[in-house]
Amino acid sequence: MVTPARILMGPPDYYGIRYEINRWMHLDHPADPGRATAQWRSLRAAVADLPGVEVVEIAPQPDLPDLVFTANGGLHVDQRVVVGTFRHRQRQGETAYFAAWFAAHGFTVVTPPDGLVLEGAGDVVRTATGWIAGYPQRSTAAAHRWLAQLLGDEVLSVELIDPRYYHLDTCLVVLGETSAACVAEAFDAYGLAVLRERFADLIEVAGAEGERFACNLVAWAGHAILPAGCPRLRAALAERGWTTTAVEAGEFLKAGGACRCLCLTLPESATVVAGLAPAA
Ligand code: ARG
Repeated sequence: MVTPARILMGPPDYYGIRYEINRWMHLDHPADPGRATAQWRSLRAAVADLPGVEVVEIAPQPDLPDLVFTANGGLHVDQRVVVGTFRHRQRQGETAYFAAWFAAHGFTVVTPPDGLVLEGAGDVVRTATGWIAGYPQRSTAAAHRWLAQLLGDEVLSVELIDPRYYHLDTCLVVLGETSAACVAEAFDAYGLAVLRERFADLIEVAGAEGERFACNLVAWAGHAILPAGCPRLRAALAERGWTTTAVEAGEFLKAGGACRCLCLTLPESATVVAGLAPAA
């Protein structure tokens, strides 16, 4: 059974490399607006093709080029959305836009207390038994503790030790109740042990595919949309019964993002974890 879901995306009208807040962004390596728009449109089309998925959009804003990365805009929990709060001032203006969008679309918006940085689904993933959250490059461990209290649920904090993988969704994707893919070198020994313990089938993405953000894929009901240039992960998914679609994401990799960063799944519930993988 496919759970219906809305996926929030932000058109790239004002997208560009206008500042440097992660190690992928370089002002002298700008994004090409035409190519970015074409890549975003083909991702949007692939997402809209997923069974039971409706794409919804947030209006682009001239001063917020990274608003396209809707995964950071919030974390959906039942009828509530914990709105994203941002480490860098360049993105802090996004919180109010996302909060207004969620409120206008029927969600109860929960805002983390002042000073807590929680960059939404970019740093928090749902598992069948709880949540895993990344720190400290963007979200803080204190924000994880606050989230655990809010949800009354387990939030396992894992440290992201490699500046290339500064958000959890750049290096981990949950593929089902006992299945996930990760970039091992993004985590310390404890974090990797947590992942190996949680996921009996943990696919380790190695080499260049990690840096192409192979793990930044959109998984839904046995379909995966992943960045082009990741044939090994595609094959590993195919072996497990997934169908895959590769989309060019190069213009967004320049900002440190790819497929899943550009999508926020609403709802992101426990039943959704069970429904991610291909039917057995
Ligand atoms: N330029 C954006 C930033 O550094 C990219 C965000 C990517 N989003 C994600 N969920 N990983 O904040």
